[in-house]
Amino acid sequence: MSHNLLEGKRGLIFGALNESSIAWKVAELAHQEGANFVLTNTPVAMRMGTIDELAARTGSFVIPADATNVADLERLVKEGMEKLGGKFDFVLHSIGMSPNVRKGRTYDDLDYDYFDKTLDISAISFHKILQVCWKLDAINEWGSVLALSYIAAQRTLYGYNDMADAKALLESISRSFGYIYGRERRVRINTISQSPTMTTAGSGVMGFDALLDFADRMSPLGNASADECASFCITMFSDLTRKITMQNLFHDGGFSSMGMSNRAMAVYNKNLEECKDCK
Ligand SMILES: NC(=O)c1ccc[n+]([C@@H]2O[C@H](COP(=O)([O-])OP(=O)(O)OC[C@H]3O[C@@H](n4cnc5c(N)ncnc54)[C@H](O)[C@@H]3O)[C@@H](O)[C@H]2O)c1
Repeated sequence: MSHNLLEGKRGLIFGALNESSIAWKVAELAHQEGANFVLTNTPVAMRMGTIDELAARTGSFVIPADATNVADLERLVKEGMEKLGGKFDFVLHSIGMSPNVRKGRTYDDLDYDYFDKTLDISAISFHKILQVCWKLDAINEWGSVLALSYIAAQRTLYGYNDMADAKALLESISRSFGYIYGRERRVRINTISQSPTMTTAGSGVMGFDALLDFADRMSPLGNASADECASFCITMFSDLTRKITMQNLFHDGGFSSMGMSNRAMAVYNKNLEECKDCK
């Protein structure tokens, strides 16, 4: 059911790779809610994924860009505004990748070139997008910008590796640019800290199935799905949330406020003997 929450709004959506992607769900819902938008991803991701299918279904434009490349971003933002006929009202950064995670390098054995790439792709790209939009004056007053984060920015979770550092930086960029963009242009910038979700990026994390199960058992409302995340993003892009800015908003079924739950304790008790010597 549509509420026309984004009627007449223009958007820029980064990170739809395939139909499991959180950005894919956001794009589908944004379309239902009346938005027009540009979809973007790297040329490689476009070849590997199915973004054209999404564009056809949502009547949107596809413009390739590597979010770490400022020249690409400038072209994307200019072309995007031309195609949509005006400035953007919302921007979604749904980008994450760690070459260290991909190559199985642990946190005490990081490759530093990979580490630079993790930070550039997963966090600094957000600054680059914001700075390009700022300089080209590409976001309308009361526009809304979101990036997707994870609780590993605040707490250590086994296996999340250098992505934890990237998420901490991402959330900090959101606050630092949120101040400037709010003060000067009345644009809001927030991060959404989402539950573990079964996507291409998510499933790359070590022990992801167990992490997903653990988070679900710990959360009184259960894990938030990609569809539920999309609903939250649409609310944040709408005019109903105009005074929320510089926040990291947990969308995790309550996980971030829990210490131990009965459901998680039950599993823990069952395996206590077996795991006596686990580190
Ligand atoms: N899946 C989870 O468990 C989970 C939980 C919390 C937060 N998140 C975050 O949600 C966001 C979206 O991830 P997802 O889970 O939908 O996975 P996904 O793999 O579908 O999306 C990640 C996207 O990043 C894109 N990308 C990588 N390098 C890029 C670059 N240089 N330029 C432009 N795009 C690039 C990929 O092509 C892909 O589309 C990420 O920031 C991720 O960290 C995911």
